[in-house]
Amino acid sequence: MIKVGILTLSDKGSRGEREDKSGRILAEMVREIGGEVLSHQVLPDEKEQIVEWLVRMVDHQGLDLVLTTGGTGIAARDVTPEATREVIERELPGFGEVMRMKSVAITPRGMLSRMIAGMRGQALIINLPGSPKAVRECFGWVIEAIPHAIALLKGEGGECGRE
Ligand code: MTE
Repeated sequence: MIKVGILTLSDKGSRGEREDKSGRILAEMVREIGGEVLSHQVLPDEKEQIVEWLVRMVDHQGLDLVLTTGGTGIAARDVTPEATREVIERELPGFGEVMRMKSVAITPRGMLSRMIAGMRGQALIINLPGSPKAVRECFGWVIEAIPHAIALLKGEGGECGRE
């Protein structure tokens, strides 16, 4: 079982003015890889609060995977990548690279998404865009790599090399 946390970053969502569809989509999709959502929070686009919750989910709740949705764009209040960069110990560029590359094949606006991913202790943190469509598409492209990444972070990866 993969212990999952979901952080939805949306000013409107945090005021109850927008339904958290993207968070629900992520909660459904992680089941495909044996993920169970143990913590799910909707926060405003406030960097300090996002940092606080990322740390809480990894260090105190002991989650293996934290997925964020929203706040990856270029509006003044989009600060999710900055908050994530403050808490990760090592960046994992492949996730953002693949999501941007494939998104651009669907819409040129895909290059406006600044999502990053990285590791903190034995946990993986991955940013995803905010819209339900973008979340479904982007997470679908990277989900397969997650179980192996988590196994490696826990030192349970075994031998990767294949003949
Ligand atoms: N990626 C995919 N695959 N599909 C999309 O429809 N929309 C984009 C982009 N990435 C999109 C996408 C748009 S319109 C924006 S502004 C950025 O993600 C940033 O999104 P966010 O601010 O909601 O995180």
